[in-house]
Amino acid sequence: MHTLKPSYKEKIRKAAKLLLNSKSAIVLTGAGISTESGIPDFRGDDGIWKKYPIETFGTLESLLKDPSKFWKMAEEIAPNLFNAKPNTGHYAIAELEKMNIVKSIITQNVDELHQKAGAVLVYEVHGNINRYSCLGCRASYTKQQVLNKLKKEKNSPPLCDVCAAPLKPSVVLFGESLPKFEIYYSQDVAKKSDVMLIVGSSLSVAPVCDLPLYTLREGGKLIIINDEPTLLDSKAEVVIHNKIGTILPLIVEELKRLMEESHSDTKS
Ligand code: APR
Repeated sequence: MHTLKPSYKEKIRKAAKLLLNSKSAIVLTGAGISTESGIPDFRGDDGIWKKYPIETFGTLESLLKDPSKFWKMAEEIAPNLFNAKPNTGHYAIAELEKMNIVKSIITQNVDELHQKAGAVLVYEVHGNINRYSCLGCRASYTKQQVLNKLKKEKNSPPLCDVCAAPLKPSVVLFGESLPKFEIYYSQDVAKKSDVMLIVGSSLSVAPVCDLPLYTLREGGKLIIINDEPTLLDSKAEVVIHNKIGTILPLIVEELKRLMEESHSDTKS
């Protein structure tokens, strides 16, 4: 911890204590946890929506209006997403789950990096980039099938084998509903959690940005790690403005130290 300012060390200690004393801690992640894996976020300095405006590329309406435009963006973004590897932030969260500190991981990300880091209880509220479906008959396709199609048929957008309608990645676009189970479950665990650890989200997109409010309303506490301020900073118990890949492993390290400390205290 020596390269960090004392104020950070204090906050890391406080976050670790909160997590250690929690009974039902959950994690909420956004695109910021994957930038250190080479995937751009949406609203940060090099955010996707700065290059591809939401209204032209990010809505269901825009996809239906011009599928080839949407797929041009998708083909530019996809290689980064497919080749990315988990970073120290993802591994730290997987470790918190293994330690039975974290009970659920709610993610707005579609990159599967939590699972690749070994986490299991991951709820993808904005879908997943590895599944695709037909906008016409809802036939479903794997990532490999779509990649093969793009290579072989040289058609962008790729078209359904059954009805020739364009395909769509199973990610939630603006104007679409969120997957029912995932969002109901997330609301339920947010209400029951005594600590919500929020990492790498601008907390600007509903309904996910409301989840921390469920936790607060029931008396739970928030820990926010983000390199820029969020709208909920003033309501959080601990706010750390720094890199996730640096801070999360330090929280895990501190947690282990505290656990050892209390273990040796009970022995003596
Ligand atoms: N460490 C800490 N914070 C970071 C890092 C990092 N390494 N990298 C980026 N951030 C911060 C950014 O400064 C920004 O505040 O993470 C935040 C990411 O916010 P958004 O880009 O808005 O991403 P997110 O909150 O996940 O967006 C929600 O918007 O368009 C939709 O569906 C998309 O799921 C996405 C949703």
